[in-house]
Amino acid sequence: MMLHKANGGATVSEVDSVASRPLGQGAIGEGRLAFADANAALAQLMRYSIDLKRLVRDRDAVLQQIKTAHLSALNLLCRAAEFRDDDTGVHMDRVGALAQLLTLRIGRSAGEADLMRMAAPMHDIGKIAIPDAVLKKPGGYNAEERAIMNGHTRFGAEILGQSDIPLFQMAADVALTHHESWDGSGYPQGLRGEQIPWSGRVVALIDFFDALTMDRVYRKAFSDEQALTMMEAQRGIKFDPQMLDTFMHHVDEFIHLRDDINAAERDHGALLRGDAGQLASELGL
Ligand SMILES: [Fe+2]
Ligand SMILES: [Fe+2]
Repeated sequence: MMLHKANGGATVSEVDSVASRPLGQGAIGEGRLAFADANAALAQLMRYSIDLKRLVRDRDAVLQQIKTAHLSALNLLCRAAEFRDDDTGVHMDRVGALAQLLTLRIGRSAGEADLMRMAAPMHDIGKIAIPDAVLKKPGGYNAEERAIMNGHTRFGAEILGQSDIPLFQMAADVALTHHESWDGSGYPQGLRGEQIPWSGRVVALIDFFDALTMDRVYRKAFSDEQALTMMEAQRGIKFDPQMLDTFMHHVDEFIHLRDDINAAERDHGALLRGDAGQLASELGL
């Protein structure tokens, strides 16, 4: 049998034999390991264990730094995309939070919901690759411009798909499929039903709801009631019917969450604009 020398002293089989021997049955004089040697081996093992713990701690700290760096990069990417579009940052925040909530309500894990919160705001990141002449063109698009604009899905997936980190994989799926429709009439691939990743179906629904209920440069926001009616009209056409049912079932929760985000943003904006006095009086301070 092969014996491995541990610490230049006890061999593995010697340590095993000491460990399995009842106390008091010393082996001195039997050609076996003395207790003193066993203690030295034990002390060495403890030192290994302490070193290992330190290594794990260092590794965790590095992983945390990498995670933070990824999140900041992601945030910067989102902000960059915002500058190209007339969507405001708060749309990104709302889509992230509302998509996180829907992910939970359709029964996915809390971990997936956390990823969704960060992945969903990147759905339109591909717009940074669309020329201004198309992106900022007022009025409707002709067929050629429409095709260029629709390309934001593939551009987004290309940008985000470079990383094999799960968050970016989810974000790439969302960017690619958030304009697919349940009945197969969407783009860019014309996927239908469950061919569309669940993450893309979640963001399609939330993005639609949020876009309708916010003011745009070219129109005022629709009321919640109007928006919900418009969503119902898309049951089984644009939206996964079961997912739409779940959304409608919890719609009050979604509306509350959106209003909370808007209020927080308004307060934050007021502070930034310096009209803190007005804010304070509104808040009754
Ligand atoms: Fe989009
Ligand atoms: Fe959007």
